Amino acid sequence: MLRVAIKILVISFFFIVMTGYSIAAEKGVVTYEKDIKKITSEKCIFCHGSDSPTIDEFDKDKEGFKKKMKGPRMETYQNLMIFVNGKDAGAVMRRLDDGKNTKDGKPGNMYQFLGNTDNERAKNFEVFKKWVGNWTLKKKKELTEDELKTIKAIEK
Ligand code: HEC
Repeated sequence: MLRVAIKILVISFFFIVMTGYSIAAEKGVVTYEKDIKKITSEKCIFCHGSDSPTIDEFDKDKEGFKKKMKGPRMETYQNLMIFVNGKDAGAVMRRLDDGKNTKDGKPGNMYQFLGNTDNERAKNFEVFKKWVGNWTLKKKKELTEDELKTIKAIEK
């Protein structure tokens, strides 16, 4: 009887510890819903919101939209992913890079919008980097299938 009770205790203890670990691990995972959406809606939507052109519309009149300070629409997970691992894969990484991975050592031209201070920009950049996982500045045509798969960028 005692042996059974001890076994149950040991097993329950094990499960409690494991649950604790998995909750902690989940907290560390960066997701679109939990972390990225907040940044894009504060920092990017002004020019990449639902009143902005789709990427196809944008490509037809880039100069016109640039003059109006409008970039292609990135207001939803699906639309943002076009620029992460979709048709224009790597664009988010090329535009947001802090300059440590670029050839000329200059930050991407959207890096400035990540925050109002050096600190805020660096912090939000780290969140994006963690979210993407494999931070690559390669273009769609230079990316292999395997490399594309290493891009995490999960929704939830
Ligand atoms: C003040 C307006 C403005 C803000 C704010 C802004 N962008 Fe942009 N963005 C543009 C414009 C205009 C373009 C198109 C011109 C260019 O390519 O530089 C662009 C282009 C881009 C591209 C390239 C799209 C393509 O065609 O490949 C990406 C990626 C991007 N922005 C991401 C972001 C992210 C992420 C944020 C927020 C951190 C952001 N932008 C904030 C105006 C803005």
